[in-house]
Amino acid sequence: TRVEFLDYEAVVDYGWSLDDDELFRKAAHADLGPDAHGRLLVHPDESLLEAAERSGFAWPFSCRGGACANCAVYLAEGDLSQPTDHIMPDDLAERGFRLSCNGYPLTDELSVVFNVKQRPELDDLIL
Ligand code: FES
Repeated sequence: TRVEFLDYEAVVDYGWSLDDDELFRKAAHADLGPDAHGRLLVHPDESLLEAAERSGFAWPFSCRGGACANCAVYLAEGDLSQPTDHIMPDDLAERGFRLSCNGYPLTDELSVVFNVKQRPELDDLIL
């Protein structure tokens, strides 16, 4: 699975919005460093977080077990599995929030914003 990623810090810095259809196009035209915007590949049987780490990126995480939401990402495109044993409420999942530590790609392409743990709607989930 091919993943295009974007750091939520850049979304904040530039005053962009997560639900902007043009978000990744704007990111591609901004002068962002390789850690903030780029692409990576997820191998079969690899979670999104594992793929990011193998690719040399330091995305946030804590428990690695679906219990804390520090690893939360926002899906702009594609789908990422949600394990049964997790803390993400249904309404946030429906809006595209997922956990990267145990999320496995369900589509060949994904566009994700990582580092969304600082979003206010996730505050109560962060341990
Ligand atoms: Fe805690 Fe993913 S690191 S839910």
